[in-house]
Formats: sequence, structure tokens, C-alpha cells
Amino acid sequence: MSQRKRHTIRVMASHILAVFHSRTGRTKAMVDAACCGIRRCEQAILRHQWALAATAEDLLWADGLLLGTPENFGYMAGAMKEFLDRTFYAVEATIRPLPYGLLVNCGNDGSGAATSIQRIVTGLRLKPIAEPIVCKGAPPPDVLETCSDLGQSLAEGVAMGIF
Ligand SMILES: Cc1cc2nc3c(=O)[nH]c(=O)nc-3n(C[C@H](O)[C@H](O)[C@H](O)COP(=O)(O)O)c2cc1C
Repeated sequence: MSQRKRHTIRVMASHILAVFHSRTGRTKAMVDAACCGIRRCEQAILRHQWALAATAEDLLWADGLLLGTPENFGYMAGAMKEFLDRTFYAVEATIRPLPYGLLVNCGNDGSGAATSIQRIVTGLRLKPIAEPIVCKGAPPPDVLETCSDLGQSLAEGVAMGIF
């Protein structure tokens, strides 16, 4: 009789940091939906921080990262840039190559915000788990569902050691 191999999946606590900025609430709605998805993962421990309040310690605590920003003047929001400026050198040498998801809200484009964040976090060796979710205007239910699925995938992927 052939012996069956046992595959053990190690499930770990999954520290997920959501950092966002939003002036009129659209990006926040996307991030909040993603956080609902994160909370569906039993192992997830979530920190949900405005960019102006988030710290380098938050980044070093995280096993996975969710970033949310509106596009302003073809770039990420100033508050998100301030967060990355303020923390970059403090974490550059020690941050692990975290998996991350990116949410962008915009009026008509969104690519400048997405690209500007991707360029900086690539410098920190962070790894995207999916293409950015870019939404023009108020996020409709299907976009919110996609954000929620992204959050859940991030948290569960970290918990199962997939990322
Ligand atoms: C100062 C300013 C600059 C903006 N620049 C852009 C832009 O370059 N491209 C774009 O698609 N939308 C632009 N927008 C539109 C915002 O991205 C859009 O209103 C978005 O829904 C705001 O997200 P929030 O509700 O999370 O603040 C701009 C808005 C403001 C207030």
C-alpha cells in the first residue's frame, strides 16, 4: 500500500496594516470595504490608519500592507507621500518584502497615483499581490466587493504563508 504524504499548512497570525488618505470619503469607502474582507480572515489583526497618523513602527509590525489614496494632480495624495517620505529611511534597511494591495480613487485617470506609489514601494522591495484597483468616482457595489476580496486574499495569503 502506498504511503500518502501529509501536507501541513501552517496558519499564522496575520498583521495587516491599512494606510490611507481620503478627503471626500471615496477612497475611504474602498479601504473600509477591503478591511471588511481582512476581518473575514480569522487570523487577521488589523491596524487601520490615516496616512498622516501612520508610523514606521506600524510598517515594521505589518506582515501585509494595504494602501489607499485618491489621485491628486496626477500623483498620490500629499498625505500618502508625506507618510512614505517620513518612514522610508526608518524602515528601508529592516522592512521585510511585504505583500501589498493598492486602492486608488480618482476623477478620470488614477494611473499617476498608482504608478507613483508602485515606484516608491518597489524601492522597499514590497510585492504587489494584484493589479491596483482603480475606481473613478463613488465606488459602486461591485468595486467594493472587489476591494473586500482583495483584503481577504491579502490577510489569508499572509496567514497561510502563501505570500
Ligand atoms: C486637488 C485635486 C486634484 C485632483 N487631481 C486629479 C487628477 O490628477 N486625476 C484624477 O483622475 N482625479 C483628480 N482629482 C479627483 C479626485 O481624485 C477624486 O475626487 C477622488 O474621488 C477623491 O477621493 P477621496 O473622496 O478619497 O478624497 C483631484 C481632486 C482634487 C481635489
